[in-house]
Amino acid sequence: MCDHCGCRDLTPVRRLMDEHDRLRELSDVVRRALAADDLPRAQTGFRMLLEVLGPHVAKEEKALFPRLAEVAELADHVAVLEGEHADLFDAVDRLDDLAGGSGFAEQWADGVQRALHELDEHMFKEDFGLFPAALATLDGADWDAIDAWEGAARVMPT
Ligand SMILES: [Fe+2]
Ligand SMILES: [Fe+2]
Repeated sequence: MCDHCGCRDLTPVRRLMDEHDRLRELSDVVRRALAADDLPRAQTGFRMLLEVLGPHVAKEEKALFPRLAEVAELADHVAVLEGEHADLFDAVDRLDDLAGGSGFAEQWADGVQRALHELDEHMFKEDFGLFPAALATLDGADWDAIDAWEGAARVMPT
């Protein structure tokens, strides 16, 4: 499956999929806290999720997507996924804008659950659509460039 290093576990795509797993774990933390009416725990879990999501999306949009957008048959799909990133962050902004007071907990919980559902669907499209297409399309030089971007981002967080 991976012609870059001979081990799919070492590719940037494998790392992106591991980050998806972490995002699903943190989504579960938020959902379980909401089910237990523990709003502070849900908010902490959601903040932790956003700390993973931000760099993850930056890596997709700056390192992976531009290479795939150059492939004619993938360009539209990449544009849809970028639009979903924007929609997710718009949903986060709306949560930040919610006024406190009565009704806040319910509005926040509803908004977060919708955002987590959108995130689930988005990650499914990447795991089973775009990432396999990337593994089939990109070559060793592309993976090296993505590795280099990741290395630079670790030195200077985006
Ligand atoms: Fe994404
Ligand atoms: Fe992703």
